[in-house]
Amino acid sequence: MVRKPHDVQAMAETMHPALEPYTFTRGGLTTTNRVVLAAMTNKQSHPDGRVSDDEIRWLEARSKGGFGIVTTAATHVLEDGQGWEGEFGTWSDHHVEGLTRLATSIRCHGAIGLAQLFHGGMRAPESITGNQPKSASMNPLGRGQGNARAMDQKEIHEVIEAFGSAAKRCEEAGFHGVELHGAHGYLIAQFLGAGTNRRTDDWGGNQKKRTRFLESIVREVRRCTSANFIVGVRLSPELDSCGMNLEDALETLQLCCSMELDFIHVSCWDIEKTGLYHGQQQHYTSVFRELMPATLPLMTTGGIWTKDDASKGVDQGAEFIGVARAGIAHPDWPIFLQDGAEEPALPPFSEQWLEEAALNQTFIQYMRRWDGFVSN
Ligand SMILES: Cc1cc2nc3c(=O)[nH]c(=O)nc-3n(C[C@H](O)[C@H](O)[C@H](O)COP(=O)(O)O)c2cc1C
Repeated sequence: MVRKPHDVQAMAETMHPALEPYTFTRGGLTTTNRVVLAAMTNKQSHPDGRVSDDEIRWLEARSKGGFGIVTTAATHVLEDGQGWEGEFGTWSDHHVEGLTRLATSIRCHGAIGLAQLFHGGMRAPESITGNQPKSASMNPLGRGQGNARAMDQKEIHEVIEAFGSAAKRCEEAGFHGVELHGAHGYLIAQFLGAGTNRRTDDWGGNQKKRTRFLESIVREVRRCTSANFIVGVRLSPELDSCGMNLEDALETLQLCCSMELDFIHVSCWDIEKTGLYHGQQQHYTSVFRELMPATLPLMTTGGIWTKDDASKGVDQGAEFIGVARAGIAHPDWPIFLQDGAEEPALPPFSEQWLEEAALNQTFIQYMRRWDGFVSN
């Protein structure tokens, strides 16, 4: 069938907003659409931190499947920052060869590739790293495991520099940018939270000082990478485990708005969740959007499975729609945003389904920890 110009126009008008391209203000890089594969730890890589072919295969399938941005699993910037077995690292030059293959496999299908940089801090277990976990302050590890020790000034600077070196390796490898993992209770969040950061020096005391660690990391990453390299930050809107409430998170967000960042990613776990803001319960995404300049795009993630869910994220003001679990089950998830598309199948999924979706057995067994995701 030959389409007349007005048919094309009609189609364009009904295109889901998340399928439209987006051009980043700073470097001018354009994404094919606004659907983001959110970072997912998958335990598929090698004990020395080298990326495995399985990890590459799983991410390449999502780029091929039409995600505009593909984010890697959290990757540790120092050897002692590793949170899980099978996590790939960015702490040494011996990782660059594998990172290059990974970045190339994401780029070659048209997606923007972001590496998610992190340090586990008190959540980098001694059983994996061989070291006593470190954190902003001395913090209990729970379940009779003793304490994380407080980092000294030298160690703080070492971690900041490690984020810069890791970002540099990612750029050399061909990634378009990095997402700094400031959410979910890892080292950056441990510095942001008043519960886990009780320091009385320049790295703690009030929210501005608790944000200094993140700010120093952003500055170092910028110093080590070129001007067009994309740098974003993922934040939790509230985080009980670190003693950070919405007000604290919003103060950090506002500080982030004056850093040299290309995006903010709010991790909601469920985009329907709300927090008390100006005396009213409001969606986290809407509150974040309200405080951010229009030139700085916002990603939101949490519980998005269907086209309607994605529309809610857009209505709440997000420029980018992040999906995690739906992207595990459906490597080509953006297709469900197209006109007339059927609804995606929901969990549970059989092992066979997940194997066909390019997960290895380790990843599939890990997904059994997520209630009701893998069928018995
Ligand atoms: C298997 C798995 C691994 C995850 N690993 C990470 C991670 O490495 N970094 C991160 O920021 N979030 C991680 N998350 C959280 C997701 O990025 C996402 O925020 C969360 O799953 C909610 O989105 P969803 O409802 O679309 O799954 C992980 C989630 C899952 C299911």
